[in-house]
Amino acid sequence: MRIAVVGSGYVGLVAGACFADLGHDVILVDNDERKIAALKQGEVPIHEKFLPELLERHRGRRLEFSTELQDAVRASEAVFIAVGTPPTDRGDADLSYVESVAREITGAINGYKVVVEKSTVPVYTSEWIRKIILRNGADPESFDVASNPEFLREGTAVTDFLYPDRILVGCDHQRCAGVLREIYLPLTGGGYYQNAGAIPRPDRATIPPSIIVTSSKSAELIKHASNAFLAMKISFINAVATLCESVGADVSQVCQGIGADSRIGPRFLNPGIGYGGSCFPKDVLAFRAVARECGYDFRLLDEVMRINEDQRERFLRKVRSALWTLRGKHLGVLGLAFKGGTDDIRESPAVLIAQALLQEGCKITAYDPAAMERTQQVMGSGVQFANSAYEAAQGADALLILTEWEEFANLDLRRLRGQLKYPIVIDGRNLYDPEVMAAHGFTYYSVGRSAAHPDGAPGALKAAMKNDLNQA
Ligand code: UGA
Repeated sequence: MRIAVVGSGYVGLVAGACFADLGHDVILVDNDERKIAALKQGEVPIHEKFLPELLERHRGRRLEFSTELQDAVRASEAVFIAVGTPPTDRGDADLSYVESVAREITGAINGYKVVVEKSTVPVYTSEWIRKIILRNGADPESFDVASNPEFLREGTAVTDFLYPDRILVGCDHQRCAGVLREIYLPLTGGGYYQNAGAIPRPDRATIPPSIIVTSSKSAELIKHASNAFLAMKISFINAVATLCESVGADVSQVCQGIGADSRIGPRFLNPGIGYGGSCFPKDVLAFRAVARECGYDFRLLDEVMRINEDQRERFLRKVRSALWTLRGKHLGVLGLAFKGGTDDIRESPAVLIAQALLQEGCKITAYDPAAMERTQQVMGSGVQFANSAYEAAQGADALLILTEWEEFANLDLRRLRGQLKYPIVIDGRNLYDPEVMAAHGFTYYSVGRSAAHPDGAPGALKAAMKNDLNQA
């Protein structure tokens, strides 16, 4: 199949590279000439596992890069729109990029085309794309519009694409469903997984994946509702973690207990400093706005967002209660990305917390395996950067863990303790067992679990520290 993918952001770039790996001929289009030139030269603009290999494998062969949208449309049977849909001031999604791509596609329809929306968009978008293309003079029989949302996560985007839980195709005509079924046949028919060069199968994946065909409107709603549900799951467990702190229960035991119910499941029940990234915050807000526009007041989502913001505030209170005054305090910070495995800092709770601490007069030395360059562009000279977790901890009054990078969960605790001025760790991601931390001489604060104090700390000191946490 010949495919054009419009937009070379996270979704477009990953989709383009993966379609090429499925055996299709792909033209990836972007109007940013510098981006296209860099891709042609072999640069990989995002930190994403397996993406460099796929780009290297297919660049100049099954994967081409271009700034000429209409040429790419003429050469393709399916055109995937994967441009940005940033939030407006009102919280709804700005669809002007989608509209302008739809308008431009019209002039290049030279045979039956399937126009596929892959960006996260509100319900009715595919109807609007169809209207815009018709308004600009296309023959109604010459194209169909489908919705084929992506469920990939940053950091595991390539394996999420190639080993999905499900493939969702929303379209209102058989002919168009047929084209999309053919595009995904290497996955749904299992052929891709027989290839010696296939990207390795992740642990939990079931193959071959199934395809769910729905109406376009249902598919659009499924994407927004899925992200809103996952955000709700995170806010729910964060609220439960707060309750655990009040009563002295352990949220990890509570998660184990509720996650063992197969109707609930254990995933996305990790409490922390709240969700961030380019998807959940934007999509919950947009879904809220869509519902309002359609006449439903989805107040549950307001609460999901409120709990998420509170979570950062609660963490800051924990830092204050552990250190008393903050002005002039030197903090080591582990993690800046919005989650582990990515260099993305958009809406990163780690960056928001670091900014709040800087405003309170703290000095910060931060380390992140991938996101320091991007953070430097945003935060300028306010933060010092270190070359390792140990260097970030050197001489610090306390160490903060803000991103769930795997490498932060496996630190040499003896060495870490030797670096810190005071052995205090405030962990926003629950990467360590409190008892182990106490045994290594740390005072350890985490989320939804009691604070742990160094073994052998005098009773009065322990009581004072316990009091600190209750006040937080
Ligand atoms: C999310 C969804 O998981 C994808 O299915 C979806 O395709 C994507 O948005 C999108 O719409 O494009 P992503 O934003 O890459 O993916 O990241 P997640 O892994 O979902 O994490 C989001 C945030 O929630 C992170 O800040 C993470 O630290 C936080 N989180 C996640 C928790 O605090 N607890 C958890 O248990 C899980």
